[in-house]
Amino acid sequence: MFRYQLVVLCIAFIVCNSTDNSFCEFKDCYIKAVNRTDKFMTLYIKLYQTPVDNVTANIKLMRNNNGFKPFFLDVTIDACRFLVNQKNKIIREFYFKLYKKYSNMNHTCPYDHDLLFPQLWTRYLEDTLEGFVPLVGGEYALYTTWYSKNIKRASVNIYFSIF
Ligand SMILES: *[C@@H]1O[C@H](CO)[C@@H](O)[C@H](O)[C@H]1NC(C)=O
Ligand SMILES: *[C@@H]1O[C@H](CO)[C@@H](O)[C@H](O)[C@H]1NC(C)=O
Ligand SMILES: *[C@@H]1O[C@H](CO)[C@@H](O)[C@H](O)[C@H]1NC(C)=O
Repeated sequence: MFRYQLVVLCIAFIVCNSTDNSFCEFKDCYIKAVNRTDKFMTLYIKLYQTPVDNVTANIKLMRNNNGFKPFFLDVTIDACRFLVNQKNKIIREFYFKLYKKYSNMNHTCPYDHDLLFPQLWTRYLEDTLEGFVPLVGGEYALYTTWYSKNIKRASVNIYFSIF
């Protein structure tokens, strides 16, 4: 099938950071290209204070305009509750398209095991992002910051471009 694309959204790299090593550590955080067209992302997060049943996530879209600045989307969710009751449309998309299929976080809290995204094809993430990012050319990032019991524990930032 010929797919005519006016816009290309392309994930460039990912940066993971544990801000509390007694809570969690990243064993893996990378994007690997298998060939010229296909890449996948691998995340492996070790949890040291299980069971985890209180998680808040802030998800912020950033656009590079002399430095990355908030752009269009800034939501904070109760990550434990959204798995039960996905009200936010964007979050619901992410959950059903990505989490459920590509991670072992496909059940409700508590989490009493390490968190794994063994092989998330970036194309699926790109398609999901295309669904809600205003498709204006430029450099972007999706900043996700993870809290448990109101303490910042980790961040995962995904950088991408729109041509
Ligand atoms: C790239 O790799 C993917 C996954 O293995 C495969 O489905 C696809 O056909 C490959 N593309 C090319 C151009 O070789
Ligand atoms: C969750 O993912 C695991 C591992 O991929 C799988 O074995 C299990 O069936 C999935 N559970 C649900 C409810 O989708
Ligand atoms: C999570 O923990 C914080 C801080 O202890 C608390 O204020 C909040 O009510 C908790 N959230 C839930 C859903 O239990």
